[in-house]
Amino acid sequence: MDEAIVRPATRADLEGYRRCIGRVAAERRWLVFIDTPPPDALHQHVGGMIDRGLPVFVAVAADDVVVGWCDIYVPVFNPVRAGFDHVGVLGMGLDADWRGRGLGGRLLAAALAAAEALRIERVELDVFAANERARRLYERHGFVVEGVRRRARKLDDRYEDVIAMARLKETT
Ligand SMILES: CC(C)(COP(=O)(O)OP(=O)(O)OC[C@H]1O[C@@H](n2cnc3c(N)ncnc32)[C@H](O)[C@@H]1OP(=O)(O)O)[C@@H](O)C(=O)NCCC(=O)NCCS
Repeated sequence: MDEAIVRPATRADLEGYRRCIGRVAAERRWLVFIDTPPPDALHQHVGGMIDRGLPVFVAVAADDVVVGWCDIYVPVFNPVRAGFDHVGVLGMGLDADWRGRGLGGRLLAAALAAAEALRIERVELDVFAANERARRLYERHGFVVEGVRRRARKLDDRYEDVIAMARLKETT
């Protein structure tokens, strides 16, 4: 299939989602993860997001194989840590073969629209400074740079700065 479909994830997608994250993680460049997350932890975390109705989208190719994801996590309500329910943390990625075709933009737009419908007013993320494609994509969708954590990762004898970006919902 040439075109992937973007749709909300269900629990049936969790294993495909986990494997897709694992493939991108194994590249050791784009994600904080460098390996496939363990099934229990991922199913609990992402399954919990799906159950809560948070934005969790997948891009699926032929045979419903997950080739990309985009999700926005809002921590579970905690009465002693009040005032952060309007903030979500975004993560996303695509299999290498599916990059450069606008699919990232479709996933991101779907997740941001769902976040706005849920009254998530601020969406934040971290991106490695060298990830120019991701930074460009986020800027095109209204994210701005809020700061830099210098040499925040040292992996394979290479330092990387982490850029903090966020997008505020228009309030006017
Ligand atoms: C980042 C990612 C989600 C982007 O999705 P994508 O569908 O590949 O994005 P696109 O190809 O549409 O590119 C996005 C923009 O970056 C631009 N771009 C592409 N390659 C670029 C490069 N090397 N340098 C700068 N900009 C680049 C594109 O022209 C496009 O800009 P435009 O909309 O103004 O034309 C995807 O590449 C990916 O999954 N990468 C690996 C995992 C990852 O980085 N996840 C994000 C972690 S924060």
